[in-house]
Amino acid sequence: MKKTLLLTPGPTPVPEDVLEAMARPMIHHRHEPFRAVIEKVKQDLKVLFQTKNEVLILGSTGTGAMEGAVSNLLSRGDKAIVVRGGKFGERWGEICEAYGVQAIPVDVEWGKAVDAGQVRTALDQAPDARAVFLQASETSTGVKHPVREIADLVASRENTVIVVDAITALGVFDIPTDAWKLDVVVTGSQKALMLPPGLAFVCLSEKAWRLAKESDLPKYYFDFAKEKKNLEKNQTAYTSSVSLIMGLEASLERIKQEGLKNLFARTEKLARATREGVKALGLELFAPESPSEACTAIKVPEGIDGAKIPTLIRENHGVAIAGGQAHLKGKIVRISHMGYVNAYDILSGLAALEFVLQDLGYPLELGASVRAAMAVLAS
Ligand SMILES: Cc1ncc(COP(=O)(O)O)c(C=O)c1O
Repeated sequence: MKKTLLLTPGPTPVPEDVLEAMARPMIHHRHEPFRAVIEKVKQDLKVLFQTKNEVLILGSTGTGAMEGAVSNLLSRGDKAIVVRGGKFGERWGEICEAYGVQAIPVDVEWGKAVDAGQVRTALDQAPDARAVFLQASETSTGVKHPVREIADLVASRENTVIVVDAITALGVFDIPTDAWKLDVVVTGSQKALMLPPGLAFVCLSEKAWRLAKESDLPKYYFDFAKEKKNLEKNQTAYTSSVSLIMGLEASLERIKQEGLKNLFARTEKLARATREGVKALGLELFAPESPSEACTAIKVPEGIDGAKIPTLIRENHGVAIAGGQAHLKGKIVRISHMGYVNAYDILSGLAALEFVLQDLGYPLELGASVRAAMAVLAS
């Protein structure tokens, strides 16, 4: 029997009530019933982002909001510090370059978290840098970066903002926008928000809005000021992604019912269970020092053809996991535990991984990872 278990770090599984909400008949995005939906999600997004500021809703994937953050905040010739410790860190640099912004890279070995001291040095060397771009959770390596420490470095600098890609962080672990003075926080729908891909969200602090006023980079679709004006009327600037936003209403309701604290604790436990599970098989974590609770990156053991693992586990066991990106292709596999994932999903994923590794010739005792994960889940 074919049955799929989606354990990829985005898209993630979509709960039944969210699917049902998205299947409702179409309504017009400028009419009152839909404005009432926006009114509600506006409030619930503030709870998720832990902010008093508005959270803009964009019809794009996360990268659209990342691009918008660059084009709305910066100006021609500006300098920006970019933490590059993985594929998505590189993306910040690529977007900056596409807009003629000078990206000053802070390079970090893939699998390691940035040291806040590296960012302090970069800021001291380029005090006129207008922004520091980083990931809270670098999905390509499974690393969590020290956002709070870096935000502290930026907070005292009047003309520099911290821009956080929280695409696999928001709704995964605690990242309080206002309390940590995060100027720009970006996320997307297909991760902890338990929705299909296609929505992006961005929240700006007062400092960020001030910078945005001065920005002279070209922008049209991703014009944050225009979106903010529309949001005040419970609308989006262009045709809203009506069905996705109706799904968002349901997913945010779920998050509110569970409560952020419980949600973070659940995800942390699933992440820990996954890590302990794979370690019990003698496997090494790719990011042992600062693992993200979004996904666990696992080193493929010597002598095993790593590129085959995601294919075999999907084709033979119906479990979807991710391989490595760029130079990590074939070297790591990644299992997600964010969003609509529970203990039994993780146990199934580990069991399937054991079968595949065994088929590929890796010596293991069947059930070892499941037992270790269960010990965590029982605690
Ligand atoms: C940390 C991070 N940043 C950016 C992106 C890009 O988002 P999207 O594919 O939604 O444009 C992803 C997607 O996996 C991500 O995990």
